[in-house]
Amino acid sequence: MGESISLGEIQETLLIPLYGRALDARKRHSVLDDRKAAELVDTLDYDFAKFRGPSLFGSVLRASIFDGYVRSFLAEHPDGTVVDLGCGLSTRFERLDNGRVRWFDLDVPDTMELRRRFFSDSDRYTMIAGSLFDTDWFEQVKERGGPVFLLSEAVLLYFPADQVHSTLERIVAEFPGIGLAFDTGGRAMMNSQDRNPVFKAVPARMVWTCDDPRTLEPLGLTLLESRTFASPQPEVGRMWPLRYRLGLKVLRCLVPPPVTTYKLNRFETAAET
Ligand SMILES: C[S@@+](CC[C@H](N)C(=O)[O-])C[C@H]1O[C@@H](n2cnc3c(N)ncnc32)[C@H](O)[C@@H]1O
Repeated sequence: MGESISLGEIQETLLIPLYGRALDARKRHSVLDDRKAAELVDTLDYDFAKFRGPSLFGSVLRASIFDGYVRSFLAEHPDGTVVDLGCGLSTRFERLDNGRVRWFDLDVPDTMELRRRFFSDSDRYTMIAGSLFDTDWFEQVKERGGPVFLLSEAVLLYFPADQVHSTLERIVAEFPGIGLAFDTGGRAMMNSQDRNPVFKAVPARMVWTCDDPRTLEPLGLTLLESRTFASPQPEVGRMWPLRYRLGLKVLRCLVPPPVTTYKLNRFETAAET
């Protein structure tokens, strides 16, 4: 009998990318080589086999593009602070730790309870149980001072636009001039969820539609880059198997919506006035 799981509906979706990374780790040409994910999938008492389809590998490509954003930040600010909002069972800190970064992983209490069974805090790594929509985590992150990079991967999509917008405005006000990365999905992607095999296996649905991430700029954000699976950072794309790189380029021309309306964006928050 494995470790039992009891998670809310949106929280359960963290098991999709976890399984994607575990499958990737078992491949000969692994993108992330996330062996801890494979270990966790073997340990948890959950029917992972019900998850099928391209979104599994999509979550690996997504994670590697977000990794690229964090790597660039750390290259410029090796002593900086990184906060992963809605981290799930991500192993990003283990993948990117440069020995100097101060890292916070935040997620809601039931997810954090699960996470704490397999991960531990350390002098530079802290897990926070709470909602990204609350403001409780602001002070803890700001306490250290210095450059901050916030990311939120596959989380905001599950919440209504007004809730996302007001939180982004609060983040801009609280963290001026910092880097911020999150993903957005256009109408075509949102409308195709019920046909997506991974969403047939879970009750949660994404609700925030954003066709163009530039429309978020009036909230106090400047869009610095917006990538799709067909346009990863060159150094990230080089780590992907050639057949995926070529396949995604072809897919972009043939069936635009799934590949081009899902965007992985990097912004800068407005500087203090
Ligand atoms: C699709 S999973 C993504 C997990 C992780 N970012 C990844 O890519 O592996 C969605 C995550 O959002 C988290 N979540 C749900 N509501 C949240 C909230 N209010 N604040 C922070 N995280 C939340 C869930 O617990 C879950 O870990």
